[in-house]
Amino acid sequence: MPDFAFACCLPGVEPAVKLEVARDRPELKFAYSRPGLLTFKSERPVSPDDPPGSVFARVWGRSVGAIDSAGAVAAVGANRIHVFARDPDAEIDLAPWSKLGPAGPARVGELVADVVVGDQVWLGVHRHDATRSPHPGGAFPVDVPADAPSRAYAKIEEAIQWASLPIAAGQVALEIGAAPGGAVLALARRGLEVWACDTGELAPVVKALPNVTHLAKKVGAVRWEELPPRIDWLLVDVNLAPQVALHEVARLMPKLRPTLRGAVITLKMNDWAFVAELPRLVARIRELGLPDVRLRHLPSNRREVCAVALP
Ligand SMILES: C[S@@+](CC[C@H](N)C(=O)[O-])C[C@H]1O[C@@H](n2cnc3c(N)ncnc32)[C@H](O)[C@@H]1O
Repeated sequence: MPDFAFACCLPGVEPAVKLEVARDRPELKFAYSRPGLLTFKSERPVSPDDPPGSVFARVWGRSVGAIDSAGAVAAVGANRIHVFARDPDAEIDLAPWSKLGPAGPARVGELVADVVVGDQVWLGVHRHDATRSPHPGGAFPVDVPADAPSRAYAKIEEAIQWASLPIAAGQVALEIGAAPGGAVLALARRGLEVWACDTGELAPVVKALPNVTHLAKKVGAVRWEELPPRIDWLLVDVNLAPQVALHEVARLMPKLRPTLRGAVITLKMNDWAFVAELPRLVARIRELGLPDVRLRHLPSNRREVCAVALP
């Protein structure tokens, strides 16, 4: 009997999930998709522990199939029931499915029933581990303040949660591609000293912070001597092709490497050919002296992927 794996992703990103699974998990054959949901057929049993077959999958596990009653959810015997909309932007009533059992963040080792609600309701099951989001639909909840000048505030907060980054007050961060300053605001409010490199203007609320310094120039024009003596965290969010952005970072690395605790690099994706490039981009990041590289399409990512890279 064939078994099935399922993936939930941002609607529109299904082609990227398919490309990665075809490349990295040839034993899985694409079976079915709706916006935000894909399934893959396997001739062997699929375990709820199956690791995600794509960095674009926000939830991944064993697919049970379409359901029309709560009984099917109970039959899974899960510790947690995560009910979420297949399309996060859709106005959808989750209430009929929301009283099936314990919701809330999953703990490591717990079995989670994923109830994916769209025009039909799909059921899957996965086991939570530290590499996955404990929240329904792969979310990382962030309270974005009303004065945040960009969605990059959420992007950096999601990256910190996902990778459990030990970012702390008193540390120093450099962001390349920092304007208008969403991520700078998030880090400055966490008590870091932040250096913001961008030819663009920082929003007044960010500019006014005493622990923010604006390097108003292109990254290629930044001289090592202009940077502070210690940089703990490097953020890269420039709208340059990833290979170009990494080339610019490589020039600064001899200065940064001795004190760097890690980097959060947003890799911009122009078209699906980008998916084939990902292994080469990871290799390039490792060559920077940051061998532990993890990729993830975070909830606030659109045509881009977050890379967290640690020494
Ligand atoms: C996606 S936005 C950055 C958003 C920002 N991280 C935030 O938190 O609001 C991309 C930025 O990259 C900047 N940029 C593009 N090329 C650059 C370069 N060569 N050097 C520095 N910044 C650059 C652009 O000016 C733009 O502000």
